[in-house]
Amino acid sequence: AIDVSTFTKQTGFTALDYGFVNTASTMSDITYIDGDQGILRYRGYPIEQLVKGNASFLEIAWLLIYGELPTADQLGEFDDKIRHHTLLHEDLKNFFTAMPAGAHPMAVLSSAVAALSTYYENDSDPDNPEHVDLTNIRLLAKLPVIAAYAHKKSIGQAFLYPDNKLSYVENFLRLNFGNMAEPYEIDPVMAKALERLLILHEDHEQNASTSTVRLVGSTGADQFASIAAGIQALAGPLHGGANEAVLNMLAQIRDSGQGVKRFVEKVKNKEDGVKLMGFGHRVYKNYDPRAKLVKESADEVLAALGVHDPLLDLAKELEEIALEDDYFKERRLYPNVDFYTGVIYKAMGFPTRVFTVLFAIGRLPGWLAHWREQNLDPRNKIGRPQQLYTGSPAREYRGA
Ligand code: ACO
Repeated sequence: AIDVSTFTKQTGFTALDYGFVNTASTMSDITYIDGDQGILRYRGYPIEQLVKGNASFLEIAWLLIYGELPTADQLGEFDDKIRHHTLLHEDLKNFFTAMPAGAHPMAVLSSAVAALSTYYENDSDPDNPEHVDLTNIRLLAKLPVIAAYAHKKSIGQAFLYPDNKLSYVENFLRLNFGNMAEPYEIDPVMAKALERLLILHEDHEQNASTSTVRLVGSTGADQFASIAAGIQALAGPLHGGANEAVLNMLAQIRDSGQGVKRFVEKVKNKEDGVKLMGFGHRVYKNYDPRAKLVKESADEVLAALGVHDPLLDLAKELEEIALEDDYFKERRLYPNVDFYTGVIYKAMGFPTRVFTVLFAIGRLPGWLAHWREQNLDPRNKIGRPQQLYTGSPAREYRGA
């Protein structure tokens, strides 16, 4: 067996910390979380005020990236530039046809973002601040278009061109739900609800995907490469992919006919490794403040859209039983942001496989803010964790 203390003395190795439970990788001015109290603030502003106030997604994107709320002129110019950059190069559309019809939209999204970089090699230099700003604009403008095309591709429908008279969120809704044959009418309730959900996802400090963006960025890679990697990290079911997993779990409970209590028993007994998806969080040991806001809006949005979804009732029943149960109490497991979002996305008409794509669109400003913060920080070093070698001692290769 390896003696960690001897190893430490011999190598200067300082900590073995699986999952970085107790290791800070950076200092950051962007987002504050107090997991015990259930507090989340962007640049000092409480999430509740930003979501319930009349903030727009792009206003908060600016706040996260540049540190202060934009003036009306700054926001107007930012919004104009983003509208100006929504078009994808026509050749990039071939990329979507090269993917199989059943391709997961997160895989398409990440690959398309990586592919996007090939069109902008001459003006995406990470050491040029103007290029950095331009790449931010390009990614903010194009990611929703790519996401909508990934969705359209998965349902076999034609791609629409963006309509730049529409706001960021309205444009996205039309690209997803509009068609070539008739004009698309924006539902203001849906647009407002989606904008709020996206704001709520904009940043969450050093989560797995943001840390991925930072790690890739620490090598000197540009935003396209770093964000493409961040999207892949987000796709995992323990991270952003949980919103899709929650809906699948709820549907399975419904279809099994076994009832919620039996499912909770399975989770507690760790039968077949079943987890209560959408529950638990590395940082929140209290109710996730985002989940609180999503739960509130789930009832409002479904009522306004005239949808009654028995899966929402099932989710509430699950939560009620779990919160009263010692297994969850002892481990301080509460609903996280992914627990109720899927029910709302489903009511809006998004297929389950597109849910995590919506998370990625929401998270993009946070990723860009972290990439930029690191890029401007003279203390930045290439990320390079240590390891504790536990393999074979030296042995001789004697040839074939
Ligand atoms: N269901 C059942 N048990 C759970 C759950 C859950 N959702 N989450 C944690 N636990 C249990 C673990 O089995 C462990 O129990 P043990 O001590 O008996 O072994 C204990 O609670 C501690 O859990 P860890 O896995 O050590 O906690 P960690 O901080 O490493 O993981 C995570 C956090 C990944 C979010 C975990 O809670 C989980 O898998 N949740 C379900 C997936 C999910 O909803 N992910 C979305 C997170 S939010 C986001 O990324 C946007």
